[in-house]
Amino acid sequence: MTTIIDGNEIADRIRADVSDCATRLADEGVTPGLATVLMSDDGASETYVSMKQRACEETGIEGIHQELDPDASAETLLQRIDDLNDDPTVHGILVQMPVPDHVDSRAVLERIDPMKDVDGFHPENVGRVVAGNARFKPCTPHGVQKLLEAADVDTEGKDAVVVGRSDIVGKPMANLLIQKAPGGNATTTVCHSRTDDLAEKTRAADIVVAAAGVPEMITGDMLSAGSTVVDVGVNRVEADTEKGYELVGDVEFESAKEKADAITPVPGGVGPMTIAMLMYNTVKAASLQSG
Ligand code: GUN
Repeated sequence: MTTIIDGNEIADRIRADVSDCATRLADEGVTPGLATVLMSDDGASETYVSMKQRACEETGIEGIHQELDPDASAETLLQRIDDLNDDPTVHGILVQMPVPDHVDSRAVLERIDPMKDVDGFHPENVGRVVAGNARFKPCTPHGVQKLLEAADVDTEGKDAVVVGRSDIVGKPMANLLIQKAPGGNATTTVCHSRTDDLAEKTRAADIVVAAAGVPEMITGDMLSAGSTVVDVGVNRVEADTEKGYELVGDVEFESAKEKADAITPVPGGVGPMTIAMLMYNTVKAASLQSG
């Protein structure tokens, strides 16, 4: 029987722990605060940010949401970040990516105070992850680690394949999987759009993390029997539904679940974990800044 890993249930448990920590901090006079900044009118980005704000409310974190016109100048966004960096009630800052093309995303990420960088995207925090001395682990890869741990999937000595090399998921995921630490110690291969014979690599893997952003690209015939499949993809594809689209992962669920021992669904797999780990990082940020 294939295990369908329930990300909602695991995320709920993590959020309950985080909520307890938030309450303790509030009792000491520090209510954790998370500022989200959206400079986009992309529907998916709007949805993600509102889910993050709702999670704050449910976790005892003070959510502050700010929107900027997508046509505003880069300087306007950088000034907004400076203001949030200086605000002692704000412990975490998240600028929803992507930002418009006329804004240099690197400059944006570098402007955020590394102590408030709850995404873990600032070069200082990226470097700390690579060095095995993480302050804020990036939310999605950290969520995948927690999800594997909760599903009793041991990574120690296993062959892991990460499909996708993004700064947000693929690269940090590979870094966490190779760490000399629980949830790491995996022999890790990173595949991407230029990889020759992807199926050969994924078929040799005990654990496949699909994070390429290509709908249903990983099919059952690309997997080995008994593997664990984690689907990070969230792709909107046109469909005859009320909204005109449906969400599908990077994995073709039906064929993959025939092969895999354990698999995450989309939605209800990695997505809720990302948000839970954002709440975790925000409470950690508040704790670091108050201590
Ligand atoms: N866009 C897609 N995923 C993320 C994320 O985890 N953080 C931010 N800031 N933007 C994103």
